[in-house]
Amino acid sequence: MNLNQEQDTNLDVAEIVSLLESSDESEVEALRARAEQVCLKTFGRDVYLRAIIEFSNCCRQDCLYCGLRRSNAGLKRYRMNTDEILETAVRAAGLGYKTIVLQSGEDPYYSDADIARLIEAIKSRADVAITLSLGERDAAAYRSWIEAGANRYLMRHETSNPELYARLHPGHTLEQRLDHLRTLKALGYQVGAGNMVGLPGQTTKDIAGDLLLMKELDVDMAGIGPFIPNPSTPLGDTEGGTLDLVLREIALLRILMPEVMIPATTALGTKGSNAREEAFRWGANVIMPNVTPMRYRPMYALYPGKICTDQDAAQCTSCVKARVLAAGRTVGMGYGHSPKFLRNKAQRVQAQEVIQ
Ligand code: 5AD
Ligand code: FES
Repeated sequence: MNLNQEQDTNLDVAEIVSLLESSDESEVEALRARAEQVCLKTFGRDVYLRAIIEFSNCCRQDCLYCGLRRSNAGLKRYRMNTDEILETAVRAAGLGYKTIVLQSGEDPYYSDADIARLIEAIKSRADVAITLSLGERDAAAYRSWIEAGANRYLMRHETSNPELYARLHPGHTLEQRLDHLRTLKALGYQVGAGNMVGLPGQTTKDIAGDLLLMKELDVDMAGIGPFIPNPSTPLGDTEGGTLDLVLREIALLRILMPEVMIPATTALGTKGSNAREEAFRWGANVIMPNVTPMRYRPMYALYPGKICTDQDAAQCTSCVKARVLAAGRTVGMGYGHSPKFLRNKAQRVQAQEVIQ
């Protein structure tokens, strides 16, 4: 297939499946090269760093693939208190980060107001953008957090296949998940969705569906990583996803959505010591070093073999910077807001001025 500048943002399911499955090396290299070219043209050489704080591994959900699922009685649980989260965030800002990602299991222990106060406190002490990745709450909570100063929300759709979604998430539907994503977007968040690759029963047609769904949702960010079977879950003895298929999905998303922010995910980092650098050559432009205090890291065990459990915040920071430079790229100095989001915001402000 010839990837052609004008048409390839409109690839259809059959074309996407064919590129995901292609065994023609030159075709796959053309896919990679095109994605890299689109990425460089849109963002230049900059890769954006996001400091992630995994502040609680307690979760009320029971997702079949995830080590934090509530049925996993073997996992030691922890919660950082909000003072410690704040101090961790301020320290990360001191290391130069312009975005702090607050991530946890779905943990109602932290009230909506606790999270809002934490966001305000971080914003008052550090010049950073804040990304939330706290799972599902109600619209009132999402609204209070954006009013408190949150900028972005990550909530992967996990899989676009509704039957597979329902099997993996007991008692939940894909439609409900998409409602949350639409609510977040309507409230003004930069929204990140994303999926795992290599889920049991998932086909390349499903992955094409993931790509087209993210395009339809017009997401600002997309986390794409391999599914890694976790022996402490019911999916422990399944296959898992390959580096190759993840890289192809990243490249296709970059081509379909030139302006989307795509991290080289931590899960991808388990697929080889240079897997994240490789992702930059396939269209990724974000990386999320872990700044969680070391004593908690082994307990945030989504899947086995998670990287960085022995490195502290400063070590992960210098490691990641070195990796970005080794990949021939530069470290982005700004907040790294989604360009599409900034443009739409400028348009909204302009429209407002016209009205006034
Ligand atoms: N393998 C890979 N990724 C996983 N996640 C959860 N469990 C696994 C696993 N076993 C991902 C989900 C979730 C994100 C925080 O981690 O996609 O959204
Ligand atoms: Fe954590 Fe390399 S990113 S040690």
